[in-house]
Order: sequence, then structure tokens, then C-alpha cells
Amino acid sequence: MIEPKVFVLDDPAAVAREAARQIVFAARVADDHARSFTLVLAGGSTPKAVYRILAEGTSGLLHWPSTHILFGDERCVPPDHADSNYRMAHESLLSKVPIHEQCVHRIEGERGPDAGAHAYDRTLRSVLETAPDHLLDVVLLGMGADGHTASLFPGRGFAGDGELLAVPAIAPPASPIKDRITLTPKAIACSRHVIYLVTGAEKRDMLARVLDAAKHGGDPSLPASMVTSAGQVVWLVDRAAHPD
Ligand code: 6PG
Repeated sequence: MIEPKVFVLDDPAAVAREAARQIVFAARVADDHARSFTLVLAGGSTPKAVYRILAEGTSGLLHWPSTHILFGDERCVPPDHADSNYRMAHESLLSKVPIHEQCVHRIEGERGPDAGAHAYDRTLRSVLETAPDHLLDVVLLGMGADGHTASLFPGRGFAGDGELLAVPAIAPPASPIKDRITLTPKAIACSRHVIYLVTGAEKRDMLARVLDAAKHGGDPSLPASMVTSAGQVVWLVDRAAHPD
């Protein structure tokens, strides 16, 4: 496994610009190889700035007709719900670019955790089946201050995932929406690049723990440290979040 790379940027805006730059670069590589480009979007608040830059095209344009969009996780709510990751991505990016509707592979959270996860597992398998090298190009991830990523929360364990690519998840009691659907580490590993976006002093201690655990094969109690990729895991963090 290739050692994760950590890039420390001045502030959240610089993190967003660098993430957009790396995504556009990966899309150009796909285009140069006459491949479609698959981008897995993260939820939460940090990625919004990246999506706005991709929508504006200031870091370069993605070739949207050959781009497929997937999601790393979703809350079990309708797509127009205020807490929907799809709604956030639609408002900040997907409604502003010429992407074909059938190339946006939404997690149907409204179907509930079991049916929605089962359906997305099938979706992921069909996307991977036709993807070159059976790999997703870029998976975007965030990290919570508790060490979660996507909707892989501490205490979930990983033994039950087996060969599954999407599973139901339960968020901690403090979360607004408990029932979730998430990609498994196995699905995330089917990627050329994983790009983590972590900003803010409140994540500094956890980031240090997760980066250290990731260097030693991962710690199941820190799901963000369990993520691998067939290619490169990159951490884009700001100075406030970086341990040193
Ligand atoms: C979600 C995300 C979640 C998020 C982290 C960080 O559905 O909320 O998948 O894993 O990436 O909680 O969120 P922030 O970017 O808002 O800090």
C-alpha cells in the first residue's frame, strides 16, 4: 500500500482550491486515456467550497458528458431534505453543470437503510463492472472529530462488511439523522485516488491520531484510518487542523 500523502494548506479556501485542482487533473488523465471519469462526492460542509469551484470551472473544466457522479454516503431522507448530501451537491454543483441525469448515481436514502444500501451496492457493482480497471477515479472524503469518515462511525466494526460495497449505518445520537447508508472500506479501496478534506482546529487531535494509525495499518476504532486505495490516499488539511 502506498503511504498516504499529507498536504498542509494555509486555510480552508486553499484546501478547496487544491482539491479542485487535483480532481481536474485526475479527470484530464481519464480523458487522455479516453476513459469516463468517476467522482465520488463527500457530504458534510467542507466539500461545498470544492463543488462551487468545480461548478465555476476556475480550476479548469471537467468534461461533464463523460463524468459519472456517485456519493460516499447519504442520510436516509428524501433528496430535497435539508440534511441530504445529494441536495447539498445538487445545489452547489450538479444543478450548475451539463451533466447527464443518468450519470448522477444518487443513493436513494428515502428507501431506508436496508433497501437503500442494497440498491446502492448493486449500483456500485454495475459502475465498477464497466469502469476501466474496475476502479473509481476519485473518492472525496471528510473526517469527523470522532474519527469517522463517510458514515463509517467508531464502534461499528468491519467484520460484517464481507464483500459488500454499500451498507446501512447508524450515526451517533447527537447526529440530526441517525439512519444512514455508506460505502464500505472495500468500495473506497476500489479507487485510483482518495482525497480527504480536513480543516479546523477542532479536528487537530483526531487528525494526528488517524494519520498515525493509518501509517500502522489502521485502527478499527478510528474508521478514517481504515481507508485504503488501489492508488493514492491524499490528505488535504489546513494549518489549523494539522498536528505540527
Ligand atoms: C456526512 C459526511 C461526513 C463528513 C464528516 C465531516 O454525511 O456528513 O459523509 O463523513 O464528511 O462528518 O463533515 P464536515 O466537512 O462538515 O466537517
